[in-house]
Amino acid sequence: MRTIALVTQKGGSGKSTIASSLAVAAHEAGERVFVIDMDPQASLLRWYKLREDKSIAVEAVSAAKLPAAIAALAKSGVTLVIIDTPGSDSAVSQAAMKAADLCIIPSRPNAFDLWASESTRQMLKSLKKEFVFLLNQCPPSQQSARVQDGAKALEAMGGIITPLVGSRVDFQEAARYGWGVTEINPAGYAADEVRKLWSSLKRRLPKAVKAAPAKPAAAPAKPAAAPAKPVAKAPEPVRQDNRKKAA
Ligand SMILES: Nc1ncnc2c1ncn2[C@@H]1O[C@H](COP(=O)(O)OP(=O)(O)OP(=O)(O)O)[C@@H](O)[C@H]1O
Ligand SMILES: [Mg+2]
Repeated sequence: MRTIALVTQKGGSGKSTIASSLAVAAHEAGERVFVIDMDPQASLLRWYKLREDKSIAVEAVSAAKLPAAIAALAKSGVTLVIIDTPGSDSAVSQAAMKAADLCIIPSRPNAFDLWASESTRQMLKSLKKEFVFLLNQCPPSQQSARVQDGAKALEAMGGIITPLVGSRVDFQEAARYGWGVTEINPAGYAADEVRKLWSSLKRRLPKAVKAAPAKPAAAPAKPAAAPAKPVAKAPEPVRQDNRKKAA
């Protein structure tokens, strides 16, 4: 089992958005995915409530219970855990960093996000954790000087994962309906980027992975906390020809 955490003290950089679509893309690629939502905003618990397909589990787990939850998941046959964290430097983010084999620091190509990324990087360095930066919400023409500068700055800070992720309406629409971008528009640019992102991450993970148990145990992981209050079911989106309805 491998564990990825999305961390950065900067709110709105795209942790929950990337976590949800990445979970779906990895699931479609054959992983048994479990999502841990550590953010009191409960974005991914809400996303899960909207999903008809419940094959990707999402649970809230507290910082104190995280190590035990990860240990239980490792024995349950789950192959990939994705942890979403709050946008602040907190005990919660640090617990997620410690539990992860690889941390992703999403950053938009703007000065405030880049500065915040640096402080997250320092925290990860002090914890001696593996991390990569992810440049998210890039303007569609990825050639702009701002994007190039952002990519260079993150590369200099310790390494940026490819591809750069564009600012695309599919991410917002998918989140609204409890889908991943590969479900709402499988042939779209956002879907292509997220599939490539999973491939890149997968290549990096074996270096960071801890020894997996020889044989997965049968017992499933125990939910660590009650899910957030249910949210109203969103209306069915207008279907496109290339859009697959979530099963
Ligand atoms: N690649 C993208 N393209 C378009 N919109 C995006 C993209 N990534 C994120 N967004 C949008 O940016 C906003 C913030 O994203 P998100 O909630 O995922 O950030 P976050 O890091 O989880 O924030 P917080 O720290 O508050 O939890 C949302 O409205 C989301 O739809
Ligand atoms: Mg979030």
